[in-house]
Amino acid sequence: MDKNELRKKFSDVYGADGDIREYFAPGRVNLIGEHTDYNGGHVFPCALTIGTYGVARKREDDRIRFYSINLERGQEVEVSLKDLSYQKSYGWANYPLGVVWAFAQKGKVLQQGFDMMIWGNIPNGSGLSSSASLEVLTGVILKDLFSFDDLSMLDLALIGQFSENQFNGCNCGIMDQFAVAMGKKDCAMFLDTKDLSFEYANIKLPDAKIVITNSKVKHSLVDGKYNERRSECARALEDLQKVVDIKELGDLDMDGFERYKDAIRDEECRKRAKHAVAENQRTIAAVAALKENDIATFGELMNLSHISLRDDYKVSCREVDILVELAWSVEGVIGSRITGGGFGGCTVSIVKNDAVDLFVERVGKGYKEQTGIEAEFYIVDIGEGARRTDC
Ligand code: GLA
Repeated sequence: MDKNELRKKFSDVYGADGDIREYFAPGRVNLIGEHTDYNGGHVFPCALTIGTYGVARKREDDRIRFYSINLERGQEVEVSLKDLSYQKSYGWANYPLGVVWAFAQKGKVLQQGFDMMIWGNIPNGSGLSSSASLEVLTGVILKDLFSFDDLSMLDLALIGQFSENQFNGCNCGIMDQFAVAMGKKDCAMFLDTKDLSFEYANIKLPDAKIVITNSKVKHSLVDGKYNERRSECARALEDLQKVVDIKELGDLDMDGFERYKDAIRDEECRKRAKHAVAENQRTIAAVAALKENDIATFGELMNLSHISLRDDYKVSCREVDILVELAWSVEGVIGSRITGGGFGGCTVSIVKNDAVDLFVERVGKGYKEQTGIEAEFYIVDIGEGARRTDC
């Protein structure tokens, strides 16, 4: 499947007439700064060149039709603008529908429906943000088809997050939708989630590649466990606020955390808070190191990030730990860690150019031996954010 075939399929299913438009929204990979985005901390993601393609056209009536080429069953869902409610049976279509709902909540009420067909090449449940990609894609489509010209890309990211929080029930932070909306070729985004200030940092590494390894363990439990982590952080913050004047965990540095940590009554919540504080500091230090071309320090901080996510935040799993440990054992690997929400999904590694083949061979073989699973590898190409693609 490619974008021409998607357009053809759209014409076959919905007719070739009228103003048919094409769009794309990428997936993302986060280099460092995990589970900091709902704690007022920093993140450092970049947009990928894989993502979700969409073809859409306005309708004259009040119907909306969503069609996914990726699925064999449940590929088409039809709703009316008069009933934008979540229905379990809609499956994947709750993501684009949630964005239509969120637009309405923000005063952008559609007067006409539309047809939208998608095809994506982000492996689902891999922690590379297939859902944020679909949300921001829908936002770009609605803005363009219905001329909501006052909405910025940042607004579309925020609307996507709002829909995921309020409509789809995952209390995610802003990182994924932000990265998908604001991505820039060859750059990672150093975002302060406290006030959404950010800068682009060039991450074209002359001597190394960024490699994603998919454990193929789906993080299907992510929503429940994810929301649990979020509330554990909230409980830790509440305890800390009795003894120190902070708004978010990201307001503390490690010294501050050591000074006040005993105020956190629950031991597990204390560990979650420790990760949130330390990971934020690591992210700031990693970006500073990158600016000094000190990629070795960057890699070391990625490794520490993994250990903290494994032991304190407890969002890794056996298979992903195996991938990371295998990666660490390959000479020429600068750093390796779990990426994204966790509980399965992918690792991200920085690997010296001349070690990439060895990395793929050794990690692939070792992983297969220990788990029976065939890992998948993607050499990262950092791409642009979501956009219309046919003009
Ligand atoms: C998921 C969420 C993000 C972020 C990451 C963990 O991808 O959608 O907001 O919290 O997990 O860093």
